[in-house]
Amino acid sequence: DWTAQHTLEHLIADIRAKVGDEKVLLAVSGGVDSSTLALLLARAIGDRMTAVFVDHGLLRLGERQEVEQALRPLGKALRVVEASGQFLSALRGVTDPEQKRKIVGREFIRVFEREARQLSAQGYRWLAQGTLYPDVIESAGSGEGSANIKSHHNVGGLPEDLQFELLEPFRYLFKDEVRELALLLGLPEPIRMRHPFPGPGLAIRILGEVTPQKLEILRRADDIFISSLRDWNLYDQVSQAAAILTPMQSVGVVGDERSYGYVLGLRAVSTVDFMTADWARLPLEFLDEVARKITRQVPEIGRVVYDITSKPPATIEWE
Ligand code: XMP
Repeated sequence: DWTAQHTLEHLIADIRAKVGDEKVLLAVSGGVDSSTLALLLARAIGDRMTAVFVDHGLLRLGERQEVEQALRPLGKALRVVEASGQFLSALRGVTDPEQKRKIVGREFIRVFEREARQLSAQGYRWLAQGTLYPDVIESAGSGEGSANIKSHHNVGGLPEDLQFELLEPFRYLFKDEVRELALLLGLPEPIRMRHPFPGPGLAIRILGEVTPQKLEILRRADDIFISSLRDWNLYDQVSQAAAILTPMQSVGVVGDERSYGYVLGLRAVSTVDFMTADWARLPLEFLDEVARKITRQVPEIGRVVYDITSKPPATIEWE
């Protein structure tokens, strides 16, 4: 029978046995899996690990600070790499969603490779990843592969001359089990219960070209939506929620003037496996409040719409 405490001890013993006195590198994304893994490794091998967090400038409002705070127990073992300039330049002028995904994936590997090379020179031999059991099954592949309709971006793809031994302590665990470990390891609640967030981040939630101005607008609107979900105790009732900035501008009135503001989409879904999903029946009073707050506090947005399409036929993301 599965108890979190027992599993935790077992995983720690296993990591120590495998790694011996060698050093481990990992990438943290701010999601529950990699954050839990970072805390687990810190517990198991102390400062013989380094966690690299790449700030690609496509994160939500306050997300970087939240991750830094949550991983404070790592001390100097947490290395935050500021790379927003690099990602935003690479994305300039790009409108195709798959192209954006490829660019973010490629730049991520570039940044991570730079860090990995330095650490490899310092004797790091292991690369840890928060792969879960469902990922293992999926990539073993019965070929159904609807998850691969979009090119998902993960670590991997490092060049031949830069080889690490792979450490995947969660490869027999499910997400719920990782969340229980996270609780034992003291990962703060907002990260422990966080919805999934795509690797390319806000780049695929701004339809069309990604610009610093649009990122700014989307961040503020998204923050209002997500904080309101928390305030209304709805956050844990949905599986994922997102604000999407469209390139469309519509007519409105502000005072006596006609105005043109962006159309913002709100999306919230319930799902078990993210392969199919039902649009969330959020209370109308809630949606009303969010739309008012957003248009009041983010004047660049003139109209808010709620997505009532399920998956299939629509995907969860709009790109
Ligand atoms: P879709 O939009 O395909 O999304 O219904 C299903 C789940 O996958 C996430 N998603 C991604 N995650 N890189 C990621 O790491 C991606 O490119 C990507 N595209 C979609 C999406 O947020 C949802 O949880």
